[in-house]
Amino acid sequence: MPGFELIGTGHYVPGPPITNADLARVMDTSDEWIYQRSGIKQRHYCPSGMGVSDLAFEASKRAIEAAGISAKEIDYIIFCTMTPDYIFPGSGAILGSRLGTMAPAMDLRQQCAAMIFGLQTIDGLIKTGAAKTILFVGAEAHAGFMPWDDWSVLEPGSTKRLEGDARARANEHRALAILFGDGAGAMIFRATDRDAGLVGVDLHTDGGAAKMLYVPGGGFRQRPYWNREMFESFAFTPLMDGRELFKYAVTRLPESARALLKKTGHSLEQIDWFLAHQANQRINEYIRKGLGVPEEKMPMNIERFGNTSAGTIPILVDELTRAKKLKKGDLDMVLALGAGIHWGCALVRW
Ligand code: ACO
Repeated sequence: MPGFELIGTGHYVPGPPITNADLARVMDTSDEWIYQRSGIKQRHYCPSGMGVSDLAFEASKRAIEAAGISAKEIDYIIFCTMTPDYIFPGSGAILGSRLGTMAPAMDLRQQCAAMIFGLQTIDGLIKTGAAKTILFVGAEAHAGFMPWDDWSVLEPGSTKRLEGDARARANEHRALAILFGDGAGAMIFRATDRDAGLVGVDLHTDGGAAKMLYVPGGGFRQRPYWNREMFESFAFTPLMDGRELFKYAVTRLPESARALLKKTGHSLEQIDWFLAHQANQRINEYIRKGLGVPEEKMPMNIERFGNTSAGTIPILVDELTRAKKLKKGDLDMVLALGAGIHWGCALVRW
């Protein structure tokens, strides 16, 4: 049965970088607090009117160019986001149309765990012959859920500060707001007879912990699904139990990594790169040290992008590929955990 190989990657982030010092004009925070707790120095935000399909379009064009193919050769699109352009239809359909293809487009809602569920889906589509050339995109436009609405404060050159109620509102959600940034990563996978593709996965979902990170407003339990009170109480901003999520990630991900190595009969030393979701540098450091992985084997870029949810691993893979660090034949472990809670690891031979 065929495996898959990675033939092209691309990424795109919008607008100028917004530093931690910039955020300190919106809420009571500091570069020191944010960097020490998360490893983040800056992030990017979509301007109003720009959505994930726009970010994904730019990233996909770069991936298509790197692969040296035409968009017409793509016979499946997998689009992963938790911040879609519309509640429905999914953003994959919109991306396909922008790229000029009517290939089937599937939207996955696995949040930050998108890549590991995506790799299993790609493997299934390739093995069953349903697709030969798959465009996988992870993209997020988190700016829309940030707990402030005066964005002029963050315009280049602005020295304005949020004050009063607006500042108090931002402070209420500051632990969440400093983490997330916008961006997209695109990867093109193609069927191959070479010894490449998915070696194994270890996936889990704990819906009992769904409220550790969720958006309280805007769901169809309410009639209408969106109303003025929700807007006024900023119910579109996610609620996050950061401490519990932290503990969850640093215990469940190493467990999953060990289980996967046991299941596939591999040792840690055989892995070339540990490609971890970029939620928090401290989380990844705990996992790395707990497993006994050398620092240079777990690359990080959260410092420059923040947490781009479904985008983090595709963006990281694009950077490593363009830097000629990630190479054909490498055996890599992908680790991720996201709202759901979904988590796990995948072993991939590129
Ligand atoms: N700046 C300054 N102070 C702050 C900020 C801020 N941005 N945010 C919170 N604080 C204050 C709090 O008010 C609190 O003050 P108090 O002690 O006076 O009450 C103190 O700092 C500690 O707050 P905690 O929220 O407990 O801080 P913690 O050390 O847990 O760090 C953080 C917060 C960085 C969010 C951490 O919990 C974390 O990264 N957790 C994991 C989150 C995560 O992985 N989320 C993504 C999941 S993936 C997905 O699906 C999207």
